[in-house]
Amino acid sequence: MKSAQLEYSPEELMSEDSYESPLYGGDVLCHGGYINDQYISPRGKVRRPAIEAWRTRLTEEGQPLIHVPDAYVPPHYPNYEQAKYLMKEGLVQPVSRSLTTISILEGFGARIRDVALPDFDKEVVEDLSGTALAHLDKGLFEAHARDEAGHRDQGGHKQMWEAARDVGLDKPNIPGDVLMRLMGGGTSNRKAERIYPELSAQMEQTIISMANILVVETFAEDVFAWAMELLGDEEVSADPKLAAHLVDCVRIDEKPHVDYLTVALSELRGRTLISQDGKKTFEGSEVVDHIFSRLLRGSASNRPKEARERLQQEIHGQIQDARRAEKVSKHFESLDSGWTFPVAKDEQLEILTKAA
Ligand SMILES: [Fe+2]
Ligand SMILES: [Fe+2]
Repeated sequence: MKSAQLEYSPEELMSEDSYESPLYGGDVLCHGGYINDQYISPRGKVRRPAIEAWRTRLTEEGQPLIHVPDAYVPPHYPNYEQAKYLMKEGLVQPVSRSLTTISILEGFGARIRDVALPDFDKEVVEDLSGTALAHLDKGLFEAHARDEAGHRDQGGHKQMWEAARDVGLDKPNIPGDVLMRLMGGGTSNRKAERIYPELSAQMEQTIISMANILVVETFAEDVFAWAMELLGDEEVSADPKLAAHLVDCVRIDEKPHVDYLTVALSELRGRTLISQDGKKTFEGSEVVDHIFSRLLRGSASNRPKEARERLQQEIHGQIQDARRAEKVSKHFESLDSGWTFPVAKDEQLEILTKAA
């Protein structure tokens, strides 16, 4: 049997399937397209089988894959019932804000192309040829960035979410402070404390960036389910079919992101990292598991709480009549599904699938 190809050029990883027709979000041309009436994600002709080949290699080597159990994924806030209730009460703004925030965050995904990679040859003991890691800056990051923010005349996820919002909510008012609030939440200019100061800053930051994005991408599965249910609900959506379909296309596109980040981080787990001064080594599994668990727990515990507090403010800000605001707010709260992270602080997270 011919062994699978493991080395690819950036052009190959960027190559497109032969689409029969393009995807449009309203009048916005988007990436990807249709073959036999089925939506096929962009830049996937070679990228899809390539990621599959790297993953197969990893599992054949007996290495486990990083994985986030469903139980660790916080439900979207506000949940579907809550969001639908607000819309029926005429409060479209919180939902419009929520969808606009998602579109902006998707656009931020393009920053992945700016991640400064470490010198893998110098900072990893084992060979990296034929891995996803070796292709991060040879097409994988760039393809990911284009998927999120769009490229040239084609809209990406940012534009697809905007289109889904505008189609589903019939061109709603967009609160002017979405970006400002988003920037005020959690991002600080304070220099982050190093977790493994003996590793190069690039090595640590690369692992943090990939782990962070993988957590966001994994949590996004719940966002898609939420948005498809809400924007696909004919009681509140102006175009349930198209709005839900656009979200579904984004959902389909995220699979290669989750997959290559999973494979790349898992490849690094199975290797040995070298300190910047060359004198010390770390097990990749120790470093990756620690950083990934820490980020996962942080995002899953803090974010839902912040979202809840902000939404309460928004309801009260939107309704002038204080008594009505109180009533809406109470009913809204009664629909809350509630959620806490299921693993105690001193317990280890389960973040690996078993080795094959
Ligand atoms: Fe995306
Ligand atoms: Fe993504």
